[in-house]
Amino acid sequence: MQCRVRVFAPASVSNLGPGFDVLGLAIERPGDVVEAEFRDSPGVEIAAVTGDGGLLPADPGRNVAGVAAASLLQHLALSGIAAERLGGARPPTGVRLWVHKQMPLASGLGGSAASSVAGALAVNELYGRPLAKDALLPHALAGEQVAAGTVHADNVAPSLLGGIKAIRGYTPLEVLDLPVPPALRLVVVHPHTEVQTSYARRLVREHSFPIEIAVANLGNMAGLVAALHRGDLELLGRSLEDRLAEPLRIGLIPGAAAVKLAARAAGALGCSISGSGPSMFAVTGDDETAERVAAAMRIAFAEEAGLESEAFTGPVNVHGARRIP
Ligand code: HSE
Repeated sequence: MQCRVRVFAPASVSNLGPGFDVLGLAIERPGDVVEAEFRDSPGVEIAAVTGDGGLLPADPGRNVAGVAAASLLQHLALSGIAAERLGGARPPTGVRLWVHKQMPLASGLGGSAASSVAGALAVNELYGRPLAKDALLPHALAGEQVAAGTVHADNVAPSLLGGIKAIRGYTPLEVLDLPVPPALRLVVVHPHTEVQTSYARRLVREHSFPIEIAVANLGNMAGLVAALHRGDLELLGRSLEDRLAEPLRIGLIPGAAAVKLAARAAGALGCSISGSGPSMFAVTGDDETAERVAAAMRIAFAEEAGLESEAFTGPVNVHGARRIP
């Protein structure tokens, strides 16, 4: 039987411009780490939450990692899988977690999704991997729902499974794999300010859109999917235009309009808001341009809005969440 397992779940960029709530990709870093071990009493206990500045609940019923872990634990117990896997009639039914937040809160980088994914994956690893990774999705979504109030898988699916994912539908949940062009590089810049996801979602959900706007986004979605299949990064860049959420949210991110211009001027093929912001992302076709774009975006945040920031550059994370030593 495992003593203690550690897992890492990566940050993710959702929406990818036109794909509000239906597109997302995983990045290499940052990400969250969750450790898990068995405990004698049933249910989930959170021994500690670190890296959150004391802002996240340690109550397992309100912590996204705790909720995801409990959801999987219950499934394993009810289905008898845990007993079968551990070769005993009465396997442990309790789990103790340590949740290490290693990414900023309310950043638009899918932080609650990463913690939810890590909570579910840690339990699965502890029990000797009884479920395939994609079967963990509903349990990670149960965690994410606590944070977001609604179910949306555009951060959870890529954080768990890696790559670029499209959520075709929710009833039933259907997650599609999109190809990852090998040359594609992401630039993600996180300015030191916060946007509350719930508020940013309300702005979009309570707005009515003329059909022309919906048509423009559908065209860009089609362009984006075609671009990924063809490996056409120029087309991908032009297809990142979002007429639904971005115009309503960009005012929540000081300096964002200037950051977009700076990214393009430095060679980015396209630039938009990461999830509900305030992080912004851009795409390029090589590492050198990615570094240049990251520097230009950070300067724009500093000069236009007086905001410090950090940048993450690199390829798409195609593996998603994983066990770590
Ligand atoms: N797709 C979501 C949104 C991601 O844009 O509101 C935020 O969690």
